[in-house]
Amino acid sequence: ILAPALAFIAAFLLGSIPFAVIVSRLMRLEDPRKYGSGNPGATNVLRSGNKTAAVLTLLGDSVKGLFAVALAKALAPQLGLSASTLALVALGVFLGHVFSVFLRFKGGKGVATAAGVLLGIDGRLGLATLAVWLLVAFVTRYSSLAAICAAVAAPAIAYALGAGNTWAGACTIMSAILIWRHAGNIRKLLAGQESRIGKKA
Ligand code: G3P
Repeated sequence: ILAPALAFIAAFLLGSIPFAVIVSRLMRLEDPRKYGSGNPGATNVLRSGNKTAAVLTLLGDSVKGLFAVALAKALAPQLGLSASTLALVALGVFLGHVFSVFLRFKGGKGVATAAGVLLGIDGRLGLATLAVWLLVAFVTRYSSLAAICAAVAAPAIAYALGAGNTWAGACTIMSAILIWRHAGNIRKLLAGQESRIGKKA
């Protein structure tokens, strides 16, 4: 029990690092929780008008997900980590981002971190899911809608690639939480009030 619990906590702490807030502070930009959607994520940081800050946020939040899963996978043989412990690491880093301990448990929506996690689980899974995001984002210019579509696709892609029940299960839980985090976006999309990528409102 100790190894899975420790692995989860370590991943959760890593996931809690809020790159949107850190990058904005370092670049002397306004706190992303104070404008736009108020979400500490790359999409909202882009609304500051600073593309570099948005890219750095995207990189930081996704690389932490990728790093956690890749490191756990690399250490699994030596440490004897089971498949379910690896899945706990994946969920831990994602949940850490969403319920960041450094932001009083009010973190982001998990899109970039989930992308990193998926890339860490299986490069093909990450890239295929990313392709869904890019396609929907390119066509509609809605970051949230792209994320929701990618979240719906990810578990199906995981099963199709034969990722195994544990990984596919972790993907399903991650997707469900990610979509739940977009409840406000879904309401705005339905009302025709969602802001498009790069728009300030
Ligand atoms: O990265 C989260 C994205 O899907 C939506 O962000 O700021 O438009 O709510 P936002």
